[in-house]
Amino acid sequence: APKVTAEQRYGAAGGRGSVAGMLREIAAVGADPARGGFSRAGYSDADRELREWFTGHAEARGLDVERDCNGTMWGWWNPGGSTADAVITGSHLDSVPGGGGYDGPLGVASALAAVDLLRERSVVPDRPIGIAVFPEEEGSRFGVACLGSRLMAGAISPERALALTDREGDTFAEVARRDGLDPAHIGPDPGRLARISSFVELHVEQGRGLIDLDRPVAIASSILGHGRWRVTVDGQGNHAGTTLMDDRRDPMVAAARMIVEIRDLARRTPDARATIGRLEPVPGGTNVIASQVRFWIDIRHPDDLVTAALVSQARDRVLAAAADEGCRAEVREESLSPTVDFDLGLREALRTALVDAPELGTGAGHDAGVLAASVPTAMLFVRNPTGISHSPEELVEDADAEVGAVALADVLQGLAAP
Ligand code: GLV
Ligand code: MN
Ligand code: MN
Ligand code: MN
Repeated sequence: APKVTAEQRYGAAGGRGSVAGMLREIAAVGADPARGGFSRAGYSDADRELREWFTGHAEARGLDVERDCNGTMWGWWNPGGSTADAVITGSHLDSVPGGGGYDGPLGVASALAAVDLLRERSVVPDRPIGIAVFPEEEGSRFGVACLGSRLMAGAISPERALALTDREGDTFAEVARRDGLDPAHIGPDPGRLARISSFVELHVEQGRGLIDLDRPVAIASSILGHGRWRVTVDGQGNHAGTTLMDDRRDPMVAAARMIVEIRDLARRTPDARATIGRLEPVPGGTNVIASQVRFWIDIRHPDDLVTAALVSQARDRVLAAAADEGCRAEVREESLSPTVDFDLGLREALRTALVDAPELGTGAGHDAGVLAASVPTAMLFVRNPTGISHSPEELVEDADAEVGAVALADVLQGLAAP
């Protein structure tokens, strides 16, 4: 893997207000020396600290800051006092465990920098411009991806969301209440959605598309359909020394077989991706045969029918492998997002603002993908010179970050014009 210094990673150049400068401030929060990179689970101390960071930067720019019923932060810039529907940009500040410094923060810092650029250009937008920071985008804490935008759009019921639990067994209802939200008010927000004329999320590219094209910024065309399933395998917890090999009902062995079978299924399905990146043996002792193993399957494919077929085959393999090992298994859907083709009219508007930006699809999920079902939505991607993401190796060069912010400002200026 390429070796990158901290200075290269978080920017040696750029003062407070530049994208690189803001990313450097964000990099001071939530570092995870054990895993490398950053761990900023939704509603954690790091997450809270970054919300305060956002409030500080937004207020320093004279934006009106609010936190909505679902925990999404909004910074509003409306110097002309427009009553029209708003143009929204923004992203998220939570991270996967051991994530990079750009997935999410780049979009938030670029949004603040874009407002600065519009001010420098003496633009008075004909629509309010809002910067949104969505909570629990990665779903690293409660398992459901894009929890904040999903709640706002009604893509998950409040009852189901409030009952979700984290690793400690705390429900989302408890955690939300501790974090200052009212569980009774969590849920769909159609009124807020109806006041959005368009949403444009800028994001670090999470693959190699822009490296291969040798370009700094792309317009997104589509998001791969994706879903998450939670598998629970129950066996017989027992002693590692006294239990003969033939007398075991070991859910860890069953899970190992399942993982390989799912990988093989995905390999035989063109364009499919299947990942098991989280596995929890219970109780998790070296000299203990586990009584239960939980793991999570992430499956992605451009054709939602193929995804459904793949999940159904995966379920059959899981149940068969469990039976072979004398265990019992259950597969439950956690979240499912269809393939999204971004709004054609909005893409056309982005092409007008950024005449020579290429278009790229992505296999990564985003709040923009959830909101696309309710409002015209688009995305911009900024080059990632390592091509690696959800890893400390993720990178954006300072110069590309500033190019991205200018592109976002150009787009917002066009969208907020009469
Ligand atoms: C979010 O980053 C995802 O694609 O899982
Ligand atoms: Mn992201
Ligand atoms: Mn991510
Ligand atoms: Mn409207």
